[in-house]
Amino acid sequence: MSHGFAKQIRIGLHRNLIRFGIDIRKKRADRKILEQVVFAELLRDSSMQRILFVGCAWYTLHYPRIFKDREFTTMELCPTESRYGAPRHICDTCENIDEHFDEGSLDAVVFNGVYGFGLNTMDALQRTHEGIHRALRPQGLLVYGWNDTPDRAPFPFEQLRGMELFRPYTFPPLGKSIVESDAKNRHRFHFFTAA
Ligand SMILES: C[S@@+](CC[C@H](N)C(=O)[O-])C[C@H]1O[C@@H](n2cnc3c(N)ncnc32)[C@H](O)[C@@H]1O
Repeated sequence: MSHGFAKQIRIGLHRNLIRFGIDIRKKRADRKILEQVVFAELLRDSSMQRILFVGCAWYTLHYPRIFKDREFTTMELCPTESRYGAPRHICDTCENIDEHFDEGSLDAVVFNGVYGFGLNTMDALQRTHEGIHRALRPQGLLVYGWNDTPDRAPFPFEQLRGMELFRPYTFPPLGKSIVESDAKNRHRFHFFTAA
């Protein structure tokens, strides 16, 4: 069996089984925090209605169902990966967020695994951060997940331009604004509010 065919079988199985709560994915610690802590808090907080999730993959294909009672939009650059997006999906680079959302129109942006996974230049990062800031309402939440490894972090996080627009936010369920979520891939979550 070819690797590609095996992957398609796995994706098909995941798509069908997750409806019944059966999860066949192997989840790293960071994925568990994202889904079990971050998503749970977004769902608990009724002020978090308009949510943008950036970057899609087969293992995120069921996220729109998790947020079925919210205005949940996905954004992804790659048309192939866009297959895993929400019914409300934008196929475009996140550098153009402000072309798709009015100022202050989002309550939360989940930006996980995009920095260092294609969004790799300082100019592109700055445009994205500024766009997210413009689209978030005051006190809106930015969840920024990234991997602190040389291949996935071309710049030190604290040098990323545009991030000075945000204020670190102590995320209530974790009691911190920065969480070292997985020692293996050095994944981190940073929580911010739009200043
Ligand atoms: C590692 S996956 C992360 C998927 C998901 N966000 C998650 O939580 O795992 C990275 C995704 O970001 C997408 N991506 C990279 N650069 C992008 C950009 N400039 N705009 C939108 N999506 C981008 C890639 O195509 C890829 O599907």
